[in-house]
Amino acid sequence: MAQRPSIPPRPYVLLSAAMSIDGYLDDASAERLLLSNAADFDRVDELRAGCDAILVGSTTLRRDNPRLLVNDPARRAARTLGGQSAYPLKVTLSASGELPADLRFWHTGDAKVAYTTDTAAPVLRSALTGVPQTDVVGLGDTVRLGALLDDLGRRGVRRLMVEGGGSVHTQFLAEGLADEVQLAVAPLLVGQAAAPRFVNPADFPGGSTRRLRLLEARTVGDVVLLRYAPKESTR
Ligand SMILES: NC(=O)c1ccc[n+]([C@@H]2O[C@H](COP(=O)([O-])OP(=O)(O)OC[C@H]3O[C@@H](n4cnc5c(N)ncnc54)[C@H](OP(=O)(O)O)[C@@H]3O)[C@@H](O)[C@H]2O)c1
Repeated sequence: MAQRPSIPPRPYVLLSAAMSIDGYLDDASAERLLLSNAADFDRVDELRAGCDAILVGSTTLRRDNPRLLVNDPARRAARTLGGQSAYPLKVTLSASGELPADLRFWHTGDAKVAYTTDTAAPVLRSALTGVPQTDVVGLGDTVRLGALLDDLGRRGVRRLMVEGGGSVHTQFLAEGLADEVQLAVAPLLVGQAAAPRFVNPADFPGGSTRRLRLLEARTVGDVVLLRYAPKESTR
């Protein structure tokens, strides 16, 4: 009997965000709002070091121009000792394919992959010619998160950290694809309707009455870390 090829598992998906008390990821100004404190940034660095890949949406790349690295040299050394790359794979997704080649995302760390549509893929690939260790993948007419996770699974990614923004977090939660949420609630009130929220309006599984299982609540200086298991409900 012919053997069916085994399908690699999708990664464990961990959503990570810092938000204000009133649920915002940022304010509406051009400058990025720093929500966390130093201890919490270090917690996020440790979380990154424990993941195979880090994903962010394109608006975050264009607005904040982040590097998305593991900053602690000891954590990078531990990764390489364990046979991993020093830095996790960096992942983004874009329907427009409009990702400038001079973003820090492309020129720092190790490997990168951008998921886009079949139409935008050749244009983005050409725009990124010469950018090292970068793969552009067309996933069809639209970028479905399930297909993206399947591809990451095939690349050996077992643990994926999703670092926003709100549009990306919303889709992972609405599609029931997030295994864990880590929310750092900072003692700030943004109060600006135009600022991005942790999640946008959506049909979340189970609706507004479903209670997610709380895994942990602890303080990190003046920030409160909340961990939830969104696939598990308590009622
Ligand atoms: N506090 C925090 O922890 C934190 C973390 C990250 C970001 N942020 C903030 O979040 C804000 C940005 O959030 P955002 O919600 O506006 O944007 P976002 O989630 O960062 O990116 C949205 C963009 O990603 C691409 N995208 C998302 N889903 C897609 C899909 N299914 N298929 C194809 N492309 C897809 C699209 O790019 P194209 O437009 O190229 O098609 C879309 O416009 C920024 O202000 C940033 O500072 C805060």
